Amino acid sequence: MTAGFDIAVIGGGVIGLSLARELAREGARVGVIDAGTEIPPATRAAAGMLAPSFEIAHGESVQGPDNRIGEALYAFSAASLELWPGFAAALQEESGVAIDLRHDGILGVALDEERAGALGRDAAFLRARGAAVEIIDGDEARRLEPGLSPDIVSALHAPRDGQVDPRRLLSALRLSVERVAGAVIPARVVGCVAAGAGFVARLADGGRVEAARLVLAGGASRLPMVAGVPAPPVRPVKGEAIALATPAGASPDAPGLRRVVRAPGAYLCPKSDGRLVIGATEIEGRADLTVDKAAAAALRAAGARAAPGVAGLPLVERWAGLRPGTPDAAPILGAPRQGPGGLYFALGHYRNGVLLAPASARALADDMLGRDGPFDVAPFHPARFA
Ligand code: GLY
Repeated sequence: MTAGFDIAVIGGGVIGLSLARELAREGARVGVIDAGTEIPPATRAAAGMLAPSFEIAHGESVQGPDNRIGEALYAFSAASLELWPGFAAALQEESGVAIDLRHDGILGVALDEERAGALGRDAAFLRARGAAVEIIDGDEARRLEPGLSPDIVSALHAPRDGQVDPRRLLSALRLSVERVAGAVIPARVVGCVAAGAGFVARLADGGRVEAARLVLAGGASRLPMVAGVPAPPVRPVKGEAIALATPAGASPDAPGLRRVVRAPGAYLCPKSDGRLVIGATEIEGRADLTVDKAAAAALRAAGARAAPGVAGLPLVERWAGLRPGTPDAAPILGAPRQGPGGLYFALGHYRNGVLLAPASARALADDMLGRDGPFDVAPFHPARFA
């Protein structure tokens, strides 16, 4: 038996830990229970992009003339981007881990007129909502990134978008939670029940964790449920990615990129440690972490069409993750309508868990603590799927 907590969070990925940290900073005794795989599957799916100008404007939830959830998701994402500098600074101070936050912009590139037209429409969508994005021609794109192909005809430049290193972020969050009055419990939860004035989570090793309130913050695979509570509609969307080694001290016209480049079929994320992360496939209905060699080769080829030097870079790693997808591509935040009081969901951040972590943590913590806050979680409430 593990001592009782005010709040138990099941799921020690970026979302669960960010929420636990926010709650612990407010004085709650928080226990995060995580199966202890080195990197949880949803975090593995992340390249660490902070890309509301691309992920959200392109996302399936923003299409259509009257799409309130898409509009709410865009606004929430753009607001979360603004929280990132303060979130990262505090996290680095608490943990001592540098998470490689970079607000050096993202370039979405077009290799043909059809894609150029789509980027132009995205730019109009974003500017209408206050984003300082611009369409630039191929020469200007190559001036920003000399490694780009001469075939690039135009690009959408989002100067405020950026990236972090998701693995360092995870380490920083774990340390921070442990240091601000929380605990990370390495165990697999096999079931949860409401009991007395709280909850009991049963662990695979026979142990149990008691808490007054319970947050389900796991990914799409093996999400433990609470007896009698309908399962939320979260599904795995597999993503494979590769990392290539870029030459140290690359000259400006070498293949090294300075900022994230999003091309048809691949995004390229240069990390400060010299890796160039290229992602990602998007495969429905698969919950395994195997990597298909042909898919990895296709990612490299798509990357090389945008930045030809990528073709010859050595492979250092390939991996797969599982995005927690939802029917409208927006997260599920709040207390489910059918369920015992004190139960909350922090689920389904799909392609944007890293970007949304500061806003989701703040929004749900405010909701749980009864605080006024800057965000309205109502659009993301679980009841929308009931
Ligand atoms: N946000 C990037 C991805 O899900 O692949």
